[in-house]
Amino acid sequence: MFDRPVRILVLGGDGVGPEVIAQAVRVLEWFKDRRGLRLELTEMPYGLSAFRAEGRILPDRTLDAVKAADAVLFGAIGGDYAGVPIDVRRDGSILRLRRELGLFANLRPVRHWPALSAACPLREEVAGGADIALVRENTGGLYFGTPRGIEDLPDGRRTAFNTQRYASDEIERVARFAFELARTRSARVCSVDKSNVLETGVLWRETVTALHRREFPDVSLSHMLVDNCAMQLVRAPTQFDVIVTDNMFGDILSDGAGAVSVSLGMLPSAAIGAIRPDGRPAALYEPVHGSAPDIEGRGIANPLGAILSAALLLKHSMGQPEEARLLEQAVGMALSAGARTADVASAGERVLGTTAMGDAVLAALDVAQPG
Ligand code: IPM
Ligand code: MG
Repeated sequence: MFDRPVRILVLGGDGVGPEVIAQAVRVLEWFKDRRGLRLELTEMPYGLSAFRAEGRILPDRTLDAVKAADAVLFGAIGGDYAGVPIDVRRDGSILRLRRELGLFANLRPVRHWPALSAACPLREEVAGGADIALVRENTGGLYFGTPRGIEDLPDGRRTAFNTQRYASDEIERVARFAFELARTRSARVCSVDKSNVLETGVLWRETVTALHRREFPDVSLSHMLVDNCAMQLVRAPTQFDVIVTDNMFGDILSDGAGAVSVSLGMLPSAAIGAIRPDGRPAALYEPVHGSAPDIEGRGIANPLGAILSAALLLKHSMGQPEEARLLEQAVGMALSAGARTADVASAGERVLGTTAMGDAVLAALDVAQPG
């Protein structure tokens, strides 16, 4: 599809990030060696280890490489940041990277894995067949709005404030992403807001409705209030196809929806921006689980969120939806064969470490590989 190898920048980051990303890298190397995909992987310093070595979480050369890459494969950030000044911390945060790259749509697929039914907190009749694409607005809203701060009041009390602000074009571009995605799935979008209380919710609903009428009459659109959506995601998750919502609501709902997939360790994400001149979007792929410092270095973290993020990379940055499906199929096969990390194991099941789970997926790829 493209005339040169896709340049993938690997940032393991903090906590279990490097451990799970190492497995995603093995999988991508398998696609390079065995399926002839043209990709180049480069790793750069990022996170606490970079801070200890050179005083910056996100060194300039790493930021330059981030901007030059076709796609970023990101582990996690977070952990013992007590000694790191707040400005250095903000300067290297994942929020900054999303904003810097203009990654306005955060795609968080959530699906039920039949092999994990026994470990799923939701009954099979409730969650069986659930397959949701949650699209979170990723560069605006409450997490970026100004003014923001903590101030002292004249009477000795303190006050803290943040600003929820959206412009119609910010809403429109993420909604367009959701509608286009819906066309590749079951063509249903549920837009989630709090329009009964917040002006940002009123504008959100108006803007999504107008775009739908103008450009996507073939997609079915419904609206839901966010509090109800939180309930519906665990009560009847199969009703959803694509969900589109603002930054904070998407942050919260995506963790909640994780119950469908048993563990946050199973959830991948793709943060996608505008299409660049070469036809590829700016993009960063990241497991949703975060750094999990409590299990760092023990080799027990679930690498499937990272591996499934690599599948999103194959689809969205390499234009290889068939290869992405092959990888998702291999994950399903590994689970069906009984491969479990601790976070998805039921009582009595044998538990694998991070590398062994990577081995199980690679073995399944060898079996699943067509031709
Ligand atoms: C996520 C995380 C981040 C977010 C944190 C680590 C800033 O919770 O990716 O969902 O709020 O976006
Ligand atoms: Mg979150």
